[in-house]
Amino acid sequence: MAGYLDRIGAGKILVDSEPLSFDWLPNELVGRDDALGEIASMFMGIESPNFSGRAIVIGPVGSGKTAIVRRFSDDLTKHLVDTRRILPVHINCRNHPTTSQVLQRIAQHLDHRHPERGFSPGEIIQSIRRNLQNSGRHMLLVLDEVSVLLQREGDNLLYQLLRIDEGREETGTLSLILVSQEPMVHLFEAAVKSRFGQSNRIKLNPYKEEGLRAIVEQRTSAACRKGSVRDDAKSRIAGFAAETGDARLAIELLESAIRRAEKKGENEVSPEHVEPSSTRGAGIEPDMVDSLNNHQKMCLLALCRRLRREESVTSGDAERLYHVVCEEFEQESRGHTSFWGYIKRLEEIGFILAETSNTPKGRGRTTLIRAANILPATVEKRLEKDLNRTSIV
Ligand SMILES: Nc1ncnc2c1ncn2[C@@H]1O[C@H](COP(=O)(O)OP(=O)(O)OP(=O)(O)O)[C@@H](O)[C@H]1O
Ligand SMILES: [Mg+2]
Repeated sequence: MAGYLDRIGAGKILVDSEPLSFDWLPNELVGRDDALGEIASMFMGIESPNFSGRAIVIGPVGSGKTAIVRRFSDDLTKHLVDTRRILPVHINCRNHPTTSQVLQRIAQHLDHRHPERGFSPGEIIQSIRRNLQNSGRHMLLVLDEVSVLLQREGDNLLYQLLRIDEGREETGTLSLILVSQEPMVHLFEAAVKSRFGQSNRIKLNPYKEEGLRAIVEQRTSAACRKGSVRDDAKSRIAGFAAETGDARLAIELLESAIRRAEKKGENEVSPEHVEPSSTRGAGIEPDMVDSLNNHQKMCLLALCRRLRREESVTSGDAERLYHVVCEEFEQESRGHTSFWGYIKRLEEIGFILAETSNTPKGRGRTTLIRAANILPATVEKRLEKDLNRTSIV
């Protein structure tokens, strides 16, 4: 028997890693009953056939926007199962940033077919409407990170979606929830203000230490052997994460502490396993970001936005994302050679790792970029704040 495999499956601490993944949605969210209640109150009447609801959810990174909206969609769909057929559709506009991509995603949810080519968005929306009416369903559409779409293409899609039933006999085809990070709100304020009343808006605050502690507690009980994570370790995690109020950071810190303890062959996670300065920790000195020039910052921001969700990004994608960020901050993007200069600089400082590898399909080689000593979500937040400040001056 290969001894080096002994630890695999030994699971002294971890029983199930699933609850530590970002996609894991607990049945009960911790400490967000008020926010859920507020959303529910905006959808009062949704059990009747002609009702359409609207809501905007804003808040900082990791404040639970996506989790809350997903929880609400699932709970509502189940709650109304005998009353009204709800079709929840959650689209992240960061991954689908154009009108046609969003419409394509919606069409896929409806009947797994792509919208036919050559039709205008208005025509596709009407065919979506017919499909929903014919099948007796009401779509609860969530456009998450909607500011990415608004920045690229303006508010035309929102406008058309909100008018989907205009001039028609049957109404109540679609409810819409928009989700956005707080620093981006000014971007779509004007676009949607008149169509979403002030009262249809929920603002989430960053989590405080005790809220984060409760989230860590919940993940620990779902993922770990009972009693295998010490209380003082949980408190230390909550304390570190409270600096930003980001629940995602708390979960990341818990996960890396568990891995560290298991790697050492220990039976429990203690405070010394909780390290914010590891590769997955918040080990970045703030002034290291501040010392970058604006284009290096925009380049790093582009990388963080992708690396927050994915293990790596190709250099080609990174360059395209950099152009999008430049547009967002209304700065002219620099050419390919300068872009490579920024990547090299970020690598020198130790923010990222860039390695060349063979492309998975076909010939050729590509450079893959990964995060090194940073937590992308945390750095992203910091850079956004910083760039917003400099673009105002
Ligand atoms: N109240 C809560 N109870 C349990 N888990 C939570 C809670 N709030 C957030 N989480 C978890 O924390 C992580 C981050 O939350 P979420 O993705 O909803 O943040 P967000 O506000 O959408 O962040 P971003 O702006 O980066 O998209 C997720 O794994 C989520 O499940
Ligand atoms: Mg989110």
